[in-house]
Amino acid sequence: MKKTSLVYKLIITFTLILAATSILVAGTLSIWFKSYYFNQKKEEFNSQSTIIENAAITYLTLDSSSNLSTLKNVMDFVSKSVNADILIADQIGYTYAVSSVSHEDYKFSNLNIPEKEMNILKQGKSIVYNNIKGNDGNEYVYMTPIFKGASFSGIIVMIAPLSSINSSLIKANEVIWLTAFVAIIIGAIIVYFYAKKRLIEPIDKIKTAARRIARGEVNEEISVTSNDEIGELADSFNVMAESLKTVDENRKAFISNVSHELRSPITSIKGFISGILDGVIPRDKEGYYLKIVYDETERLSRLINDLLDISTMETGKLKLNLQEIDISNMIRQCLAKFEGIIKENGFNVDVTLEMAHQYVYADNDRLIQVITNLIDNALKYGYENGNIKINTKSKGDKVYISIYNDGPTLTKEQTVKIWDRFYKADISRTNKVSTGLGLPIVRLILSEHGEDIWVENCKDQGVVFTFTLKKV
Ligand SMILES: Nc1ncnc2c1ncn2[C@@H]1O[C@H](COP(=O)(O)OP(=O)(O)O)[C@@H](O)[C@H]1O
Ligand SMILES: [Mg+2]
Repeated sequence: MKKTSLVYKLIITFTLILAATSILVAGTLSIWFKSYYFNQKKEEFNSQSTIIENAAITYLTLDSSSNLSTLKNVMDFVSKSVNADILIADQIGYTYAVSSVSHEDYKFSNLNIPEKEMNILKQGKSIVYNNIKGNDGNEYVYMTPIFKGASFSGIIVMIAPLSSINSSLIKANEVIWLTAFVAIIIGAIIVYFYAKKRLIEPIDKIKTAARRIARGEVNEEISVTSNDEIGELADSFNVMAESLKTVDENRKAFISNVSHELRSPITSIKGFISGILDGVIPRDKEGYYLKIVYDETERLSRLINDLLDISTMETGKLKLNLQEIDISNMIRQCLAKFEGIIKENGFNVDVTLEMAHQYVYADNDRLIQVITNLIDNALKYGYENGNIKINTKSKGDKVYISIYNDGPTLTKEQTVKIWDRFYKADISRTNKVSTGLGLPIVRLILSEHGEDIWVENCKDQGVVFTFTLKKV
């Protein structure tokens, strides 16, 4: 695991937090336990001392020689039960009875209890005084006064070696600290596995998928189903992968369409020219076939121009030269170019312009391209001898220009697809002047202007294309 890895950082952070809390809890527990343990000891000594006190009073008041052995027996018994040595001293601290040999040297000597401690005992209170005979630290010494009636007449001293007390404390501490340590280790392990399952594995999946996509394998999808941020990341990733897939498919389709569109005119040009060169085409027919060749080269150059237009616009290199244009005038001029076709096919063209001169902001050449394309489509896909209606209407700061033609209505799918490059809805009429690039170009030009175009079916038959322009 790298030091920069997320799991590593997580485990370290979590372990540090857990360790800090565990140490705090264990420390508090151990301090608490120590004071609890000493309190217990004190209470135990306290309750046992009353038994000795009674025996000591009897010894002091009655015949001492016969009662010393009774006192000794009681002291031995209590000493064993509380696991401490017991000394009995008189009111000035002079020892006259000792329970075990280990403190035999204290017998018949003064314990030299300082004035301050002595005063506390005289008040009838028990004390813990570890410094008896200058024996600091090694023994736990508990002293309780003996009262005969109201008079202070002696001291019971209970001495437990600190080592025996400490060994119990050490044991308890060992348990406390071991538990804390185990908690830290188990916590770290849980975090490791949780982080691995919930963070590392899904992130790895996303990483691998991203690398595959970078290598061109666009069919990647990741299956991370958690509903947290990682799950959201995986979802966004899948959306991105999906759109890359679409882009890739579009790219492939585009290349295949372009190649196809280029191949057919080139094939026929090649065929007719070789026919002429070989003499297969008779001399008197040469003019006729050269005309076809000329038309095909026209079609090729138009296709290439369209492609260049699309490329310019899609790469954002199209510079619009916005100026004030009389749209009414432009519509009339564009229609004039089609006069021949209109007459030939018997179209009935109805132009209803809201104003004789309506000024809009647009790029002159590009707007001609838009109108020409739309009129060209209307004539191409409208019924022969049918109606063509062109009208303008202003609303707010916009002018709406509609071009209607009689003809079959478009299906819902077609109304979406006609804006795609190379899409030709009317397959039966794919004649030579159809590239499927007209509408995409029209839409790109208008969106460069910040304007919109849409198509609607009319009630029984016919379609109408409407686009907007900004009024001056
Ligand atoms: N006025 C229209 N009426 C019916 N269909 C139309 C009309 N204009 C366009 N279409 C459909 O949309 C398709 C795409 O149009 P376009 O992009 O201009 O390409 P092209 O004119 O080269 O076929 C056409 O092939 C046709 O099927
Ligand atoms: Mg067209």
